[in-house]
Amino acid sequence: MSFFEGGLTIRVSAASGTEAVLKRELIDLGYSPGGANLGRVDFNGDMRDVARANIFLRTAGRVRILLAEFPARTFDELYEGTRAFPWEELIPRDGAVAVSAKSAKSKLFSLRDIQKTVKKAVAERMASRFGNMSERGERYDVEASIVGDLCSLTLDTSGAGLHKRGYRVKLGEAPIRETLAAAMLLLSVWRADRPFLDPFCGSGTIPIEAALIGTRTAPGLGRGFAFERFSFAPPVAESVRREAEELIDRSAKPRIRGGDIDESALALAREHAARAGMSGYIHFQRQDAREISSRFAHGVIVTNPPYGERLMRGRELSELYASFGRAFSRMEEWSAYVITSCPSFERDFGRRADRVRVLYNSELECRFYRFLGAPPARLREKDAYGGDKPSDEEKGI
Ligand SMILES: C[S@@+](CC[C@H](N)C(=O)[O-])C[C@H]1O[C@@H](n2cnc3c(N)ncnc32)[C@H](O)[C@@H]1O
Repeated sequence: MSFFEGGLTIRVSAASGTEAVLKRELIDLGYSPGGANLGRVDFNGDMRDVARANIFLRTAGRVRILLAEFPARTFDELYEGTRAFPWEELIPRDGAVAVSAKSAKSKLFSLRDIQKTVKKAVAERMASRFGNMSERGERYDVEASIVGDLCSLTLDTSGAGLHKRGYRVKLGEAPIRETLAAAMLLLSVWRADRPFLDPFCGSGTIPIEAALIGTRTAPGLGRGFAFERFSFAPPVAESVRREAEELIDRSAKPRIRGGDIDESALALAREHAARAGMSGYIHFQRQDAREISSRFAHGVIVTNPPYGERLMRGRELSELYASFGRAFSRMEEWSAYVITSCPSFERDFGRRADRVRVLYNSELECRFYRFLGAPPARLREKDAYGGDKPSDEEKGI
């Protein structure tokens, strides 16, 4: 019997600070995930659920299958624990196994030795069942992660990281990861029926992710995954893709706008939106964020303005934030969410955020500032939050 036919523990990774959003996504997909911390969330399922996780999750970095967990206080234990796993039910005789290693708070800290020991144990187990492996066939990426005394062996099912949706062909200046953009949107009070604006849209990532959410388009529909090449796995991807296709709301009319001062960034944003099939749902226009306004009284901004060393710094950056803050202060019923690593952002922007959370843009520690707008006039008397009622994530994390 193939390992892939049984019940599986599926381990999904997410950027630090976004685990609870990932957990919410899993619950919305109908699963009962375990705890969400240390950049990962586990849930139980089968190969179809592995496919669904890869295709549907917006904030997941990678989907792995947990193969084995055992104590590994010595290299002998690591070898024996690895060899005890039935690799021959997972990998065909010609499969190529690539092993990566991670270690924290463990006596086994040499990643190279961990990797070599695991690779040797897999090869010897396979040789004892099949004779030697040829390793000319498909690649299987196994990770050995040792935390304290415990080793977890996982198999990658994603291939390229899940932020690679397939629509972003060229990198603009300091683009944000697609998965982080989606997490920021899901952490915000934006809903598909509310006007949305990213006034520093660059290559378009945040508006495109908003359009994918607004049209209920699964982010992984345009790409392939490692699990599709697993010889012993049941062919589940196509039926999940059909499920995803059927869920798309092509009649959705989200009001999504992306602005940028740079025409070449906008050209790239339009190209990316076209590749994502989202052109019809986003309006990109050249606009200076220091003069933003909207014909809608009420809406949500989620944005990634310039920051850090490369794009702008010092006084120029402070002045940009100050002018953006003044323009935003005239949009009374709009809420804004801004990610930046600039420590003086609130002072420059001229307003204290009503919530700040730490998020990482790749390796860079950033703050994600929330400025809730005044409730829409028509709702002011009925509901203290008006249309901008914080989500469960906003209240709970
Ligand atoms: C960090 S990048 C945004 C990256 C974007 N999130 C992406 O994924 O590609 C900041 C953007 O702000 C734009 N920008 C700088 N000053 C601006 C201004 N005054 N008004 C509007 N956009 C501006 C830059 O052209 C750049 O594209």
